[in-house]
Amino acid sequence: ETTSQKFIIAFSQCTGNDAWRETMLDEMKRELSFSPNIEFIYRDAQGDNEKQTQQIKELLDHGIDLLIVSPNEAEPLTHIVDSVFQKNIPVVVTDRKTSSGLYNAYVGADNHAIGKLAGQFILHTLDGEGSIGIVTGLKGTSASIERKKGLMEVLDSAKTVRIGLEIHGNWERQTSYKLAKGEIDRIKRQDIIIAFNDQMAFGVKDALQEIGENKKRVIGIDALPGEGNGLEAIVHGNLFASLLYPTGGTEAIRTAMAILQLKPYKRDNLLGTLVIDQDNAGLMLLQSNKIQQQQHDIDKRQELINTQNKIYKGQKTTLNILVTSLVLA
Ligand code: FRU
Repeated sequence: ETTSQKFIIAFSQCTGNDAWRETMLDEMKRELSFSPNIEFIYRDAQGDNEKQTQQIKELLDHGIDLLIVSPNEAEPLTHIVDSVFQKNIPVVVTDRKTSSGLYNAYVGADNHAIGKLAGQFILHTLDGEGSIGIVTGLKGTSASIERKKGLMEVLDSAKTVRIGLEIHGNWERQTSYKLAKGEIDRIKRQDIIIAFNDQMAFGVKDALQEIGENKKRVIGIDALPGEGNGLEAIVHGNLFASLLYPTGGTEAIRTAMAILQLKPYKRDNLLGTLVIDQDNAGLMLLQSNKIQQQQHDIDKRQELINTQNKIYKGQKTTLNILVTSLVLA
């Protein structure tokens, strides 16, 4: 929904240079293009808790009307995000959470539910029995903690699947690759490897590829559309499966707008998820390509409207000058 009121929305992103977060930002900008009176300030903390804290302080000093934040690690960011909330500046937390629950709204998928779904899928695939490897994300991130908790709840209650190895991949392909390479013999012995995002799943795959093990079942999380990302990798048979983890950029802006315009909004905005494997990846890819194409058309149309507006404004100025000079003459 558009508004003529002027507001400043700041977005503090924990880390910026991966395809998943670029998609999130793209979505936000697209949604913001419907509200030209919103000033949007974006800060990327590059995976650094200190830096993110500092950036949020600076945003506060600058003066903002609302903060959207994806906190790097929960504990270290809780204090500063709480202080924003306590200053009565609305806070929308997205993807990852702080430890306190002091925010107006959360936008993101339910990571605990994703972990459970992954566990059920693994049990089903293994027919209830086997040994798996787990690759976790950065230790203090709520997404990693909650995914692990959900996964373990399901596996613990089944009691028939062993955890043969756990590595801490930091959410990064390269880190995960290096650690997997160091543990390659143990990795080889697992029936399934589950990495808590697709990038780390790719890292494990890279290590396996080096020893000619291309068939090992590796599962990721995100299932991001687009070239070189998770969804495509499933279609090509490179990843065994992944769980959809929507970025929620559009919903985060919509929620922010509702708060600023004093409209009703929900505190928990949980985005849907599902298991994507060989059976449905093709269909998902087709549909996401189609949506991407439509988005492209919308962007083009928006550009046209902007150009028309500029021409119109220019003509209005010329006309004003003309009228003024006529009156003066
Ligand atoms: C991107 C990412 C995703 C993951 C999410 C967890 O930076 O690592 O791959 O699902 O963050 O917060």
